[in-house]
Amino acid sequence: MRVVNVSLGNRSYRILIGGNLLSGLGAECRRMKLGRRCAVISDRNVAPAYGSRCLAYLVAAGFDPVLVTIPAGETAKSLKTIQSCYDRLASFRIERGSFVVALGGGVVGDLAGFVAATYLRGIAFVQVPTTLLAQVDSSVGGKVGVNLRAGKNLVGAFFQPRLVICDLNTLATLPPREFRAGLAEVIKYGIICDEPLFRRLERDMPKLLKREPRTLAEVIARCCAIKAEVVRQDETESGLRAILNFGHTIGHAIEAISSYGKYLHGEAISIGQVAAAKISADILGLSRRDTEQITRLFERAGLPTRIEMTARQREKLFWAMRLDKKVRDGEIKFVLAKRIGEVVCGQKVSARLIEEALTPKAATRSSKPQIRN
Ligand SMILES: NC(=O)c1ccc[n+]([C@@H]2O[C@H](COP(=O)([O-])OP(=O)(O)OC[C@H]3O[C@@H](n4cnc5c(N)ncnc54)[C@H](O)[C@@H]3O)[C@@H](O)[C@H]2O)c1
Ligand SMILES: [Zn+2]
Repeated sequence: MRVVNVSLGNRSYRILIGGNLLSGLGAECRRMKLGRRCAVISDRNVAPAYGSRCLAYLVAAGFDPVLVTIPAGETAKSLKTIQSCYDRLASFRIERGSFVVALGGGVVGDLAGFVAATYLRGIAFVQVPTTLLAQVDSSVGGKVGVNLRAGKNLVGAFFQPRLVICDLNTLATLPPREFRAGLAEVIKYGIICDEPLFRRLERDMPKLLKREPRTLAEVIARCCAIKAEVVRQDETESGLRAILNFGHTIGHAIEAISSYGKYLHGEAISIGQVAAAKISADILGLSRRDTEQITRLFERAGLPTRIEMTARQREKLFWAMRLDKKVRDGEIKFVLAKRIGEVVCGQKVSARLIEEALTPKAATRSSKPQIRN
């Protein structure tokens, strides 16, 4: 088992990474002296696979858990689902000393975290991420929240979990498309601050795609360590933490205009990161070699790198970008790369450059995915 510490004073916590860690959930919660009653929030795909085991481990350690199952997918990350969770927690008499376990991907983690942050003005919560994306990114750092129709994650809070348990065995049931989507965040860490990680990913992509346990454990632990350090330095995103948004300004807008349906988060930010690399070449002189290597690595991970849009969709995309939280005083600011392993925040980018980065060259037009809306 690997352990990564997130050092945030009295809100510090551990991230445990390894195989078969779910069985230790109850003992870990007891060690933290959490209250007897708890709610395990999961979704309709994850609950049937891991819900009853999770409950059994908690019961064996002396807890009194209830399973709250929400629908699967991004559209469930809504205030409507939050409301139904509050109702379930209230009817099960979840109290101040109780806790919430988020068992699932980023959708469950973000939503259950927001429930825990707000129910009774905040109760403890434990993250048990079951997607690659959630293990390397969303379960760490305490950003919780839900979407509005107007945009992603527009309602939320900073609320740190008490513990994160990344059980690599749970990844065995993850559909290949979801696994690849998680790789988009993994590659992101290489681009923003760790060139050796990027080079390792270039070397080990076939092993990763095969979910080779040792490679997976090392890469996930490295990603968690990077995220933990960024969050330690800037918990509430007043500066450094913004580097984690590389590729996300465009990515979030793509998700919003395709009604959170067509593209997975990881796919949208794959397109967003490739576009951000092209913009970086124009503004910061990112080398052609680096830009190509970035594009190639996303392709090798089986991720989309381009999007084809009608003029109307492009207009909607710009509108969605202006609603993004990273926008200040109406100006769209980007995180851009100087080279692989180093990015800079707060870069002003003109609409024309964004458009050029997203406009496919005529020669490759036929191979591009269409978005319908
Ligand atoms: N809070 C943050 O800092 C942060 C960071 C990045 C992303 N996010 C958010 O995370 C969300 C995306 O997370 P995600 O990609 O994990 O999506 P997700 O939670 O929707 O999970 C993807 C799909 O896989 C299924 N699934 C999950 N675990 C499984 C398993 N082990 N076996 C089989 N199926 C499984 C889910 O039911 C779902 O259908 C987005 O809402 C995004 O905004 C948050
Ligand atoms: Zn992301």
